[in-house]
This record gives sequence, C-alpha cells and structure tokens, in this order.
Amino acid sequence: MLSSIKLLLNFQKSPYLFFEQVRPADPRQVRRLRLGVKDFYFCYHPDQAKHVLEDRKENYPKSSLVLKKILPLSGPTGLIQLSDQDAKGVRQMAGHLMHQERALRLSKFVEGFVREEFDGFDRAAQEGEVVDLKPFLTRLVLRTAGIFILDRDIQSQADQLNEAFVELNRMAGESLRSLIPKPYSFKRARYLEVIHRELDRIIDEGIGEEQVSLLRELKKRDLPRSFMRDQVKAFMFAGYDTTASSLIFAVDSISRDQRVQEKIFAERHLGYRGATYTQAAYKESLRLYPSAYFLPRQAAEDDVISGQKIRAGGQIFISVRHVQRCPEAYTEPERFLPERFLEAPAHSHAFIPFGEGSRICIGAALAMMEATVVLQKLCERYRLVPARPEPPEIEGLITAHTKSPLFLRLERRVAC
Ligand code: HEM
Repeated sequence: MLSSIKLLLNFQKSPYLFFEQVRPADPRQVRRLRLGVKDFYFCYHPDQAKHVLEDRKENYPKSSLVLKKILPLSGPTGLIQLSDQDAKGVRQMAGHLMHQERALRLSKFVEGFVREEFDGFDRAAQEGEVVDLKPFLTRLVLRTAGIFILDRDIQSQADQLNEAFVELNRMAGESLRSLIPKPYSFKRARYLEVIHRELDRIIDEGIGEEQVSLLRELKKRDLPRSFMRDQVKAFMFAGYDTTASSLIFAVDSISRDQRVQEKIFAERHLGYRGATYTQAAYKESLRLYPSAYFLPRQAAEDDVISGQKIRAGGQIFISVRHVQRCPEAYTEPERFLPERFLEAPAHSHAFIPFGEGSRICIGAALAMMEATVVLQKLCERYRLVPARPEPPEIEGLITAHTKSPLFLRLERRVAC
C-alpha cells in the first residue's frame, strides 16, 4: 500500500521521470503496477509496441483516462477523441491535404517565415549576443499550422493563441498527474474562450475558392460549427506543440555537433525533399527526444504481452523514448548519430515518434517538411553554438519540452 502511494507521488512529481523509475532491468518485460483501483502496464520494447499498435490493435483503443484529460484541448468531437470507426472520415479528408504540390507551397511559406525572423538574428550575430530561439521557433510553427489548417497567416493572433494553447496544455498535463479530478477552473475557461472566439471568427469568415486547407474541406461538407471548431482545435493542439518542441530539441542537438551542421550546410541547395541527411538529423532528434513521449492505450479484453497477463480495462503506456533507445535495435542508442537513419531501420517499431497503426499521426509529413526547411535555412546562414554547455532539462506533461530557453550564439557564415 505504502509503495503504491510512493509510486503515485513520483508519478505526480514527474510522469517523464516515472517511466525511467519503474523500468524493469530487462526491457523485454512489461512492468505492471496497481495505482488506486487501476492496473497500469508499462511497455519498453519495440516488440511490445508492435503488439499493441499493429498486431492486436483492435484490442487496444486509445486510453479513455488520458482522452478525458485532453478533452478541453481537442473538444468532444475532435479527431483525437473519435473512435477508430468514426475517425475514418476525418482522417480521409485530412489525408488529401499534404499532396506534393501543396507540400511545396507550404514549404515556401515556411521559408518566408524563417526569412522574416532572420533580420533580428543578423544583428545579434554581429554583436556576438546570445539569442533565445525558442519563441522564434514556436511562432513559426504556429503560423505554419495556421496556413495548413486555416489557410491564413495567423501572425496577429499568434501570441494570444500561443499563450492559450500553452496554458491549456500545461493544465491538461497537471490534471494527468493527479488522479483526483480537478475542480472547475475559471482560468481554463478563460483560455478556452480565447481559442473559441478566435477560431469562430476565422470559421465565420469567407474562404477563397482556390484555398486548400482543413477548414475549406470541413466547410465544403457543410458540417455543424461545433464539429468544425473541434477539428480545427484538435489539429492545432496535436500539431503545434509537438512540432515546436521537436524543433527546439533538434536545433539544440545540432548546435552541439558542428560535424552535423556542416553536413546540413552541404545540403542547403537541395530543397527539402532531397535533403536526406537533414531529414536524418531531425529523425535522430525525434528518436532521442520524442515530444509525444508516451502512447496511451487500454485493453478491451484480456491479453498477454511479453509473458505478462494483461487484464481487460488495464491502461497501457508505451514509453516511446525507451522503445527508441532499445539497444537491440540501435548501436550506441544514447548517441546522436543521424547517419543511422540513412539506412533501413533494424526493427519496424523501433522508431515511433508519430505513433503507428490506424491512428498514426496525420501531420507527420508536414512536421518533417517544416523541420527540414528550418534546419536547412538556419545552417545555411549561421553556425550555431550552444551558449550553455549542459544539456537542457526536460519536462514531460502531456508532451515533453525543454524547461529552459534555447540560448545560442549565431555565427554568420560568410558565403551562402
Ligand atoms: C513532430 C511533430 C509531431 C509529433 C511528434 C506528432 C505525434 C503524434 C502522435 C504520436 C500521434 C498518435 C497518438 C496516439 O496514437 O495516441 C499523433 C496523432 C495526431 N497528430 Fe501528430 N505529431 C506531430 C505533428 C503533427 C502535425 C503538424 C499535425 C497537424 C497539423 C498533427 C496532427 C495530428 C492529429 C490530428 C492526430 C490524431 C490522429 C487520430 O487520432 O486519428 N500532428 N501525432
């Protein structure tokens, strides 16, 4: 009983560290814990990920416990909350949004956003000042999400929306840590009001015939406004924070490795599709620092995973970070080595930053494109030097983030 309370307190302190604390010595084992009245199963091996996400996926829908925690952010009818069956229509509709021509157009927007922000950096680079790239990357990702989802530059609303999403995300994370339901929060209601007001205004505005966006697809189908708003909100929530924090991790990782930066620099004229090394560098950062650091599921029926009996109703947590550092799948798994992604993976489920199976991330191609363009453009113009030697401290709530600013010195390259 006492150890169960201790475990619970540890979970409340840091869900991110908790996965490490309860990890069995043998990664092929599943750790079973009883917290309160619920059974929890923690998975650490790519074979277990494959079992849950692919081989027996019908038995493992998303965890209702976690879905409840993110309800304010995704809305009750947002894609994230829908059953596999109900999700099909929305997934199909969104699937058309990342075709080649569209991706190319989006990449031009990303290039433009990066260029707009660079002028301020040039002065800082000249004067040898330290800059925090975190707000720049966050704003850029939010504006790109605006183009993809709404087909408009939401620059003027970016700060307001950013604050509301960040705060709601934090509240959802805090609610995940505590098993006791939180009382009604006026602060939460206020942030939700900001998001709903801004999104409703955009939804009610007319949209051009030539536009391609999630919103246009939704409008074409003449769906109820609450349903449209939930989809827009769910996509913003799912796509914005994850991409921003993964880019922050990636820029931090490459800033610590001049060799990697030179290789990205060498790909500066290739365009994002041909930049295989730059893509590999981003993937390697996603492997070591997955922003979606756990995948929550629940067992519909009794099952057995890696010899561990799973009881129906049990909550399954796949630790993406540990799966992606599995020594059976990667040599020197703790090292940042982009080259490993130039070859075929050793295990089909050892790299799952975007999930896998029927509910795999719908924005993976967008995130890949965006990050590749940003890394290319940054390395084309500057050498990045970390201003602090120590690696960033990581905080994991619903998603994983760096706690500190991303302080860098930028050295302007002479010939671009
Ligand atoms: C690095 C960036 C990203 C990461 C790491 C990421 C990660 C994930 C993961 C792990 C899932 C599956 C969750 C599960 O199975 O429980 C997911 C789902 C989803 N992602 Fe992403 N994502 C990223 C970017 C994006 C972007 C850019 C968008 C769209 C603009 C997006 C939209 C979605 C949506 C709508 C879902 C829910 C799909 C469904 O429930 O059927 N994501 N994402």
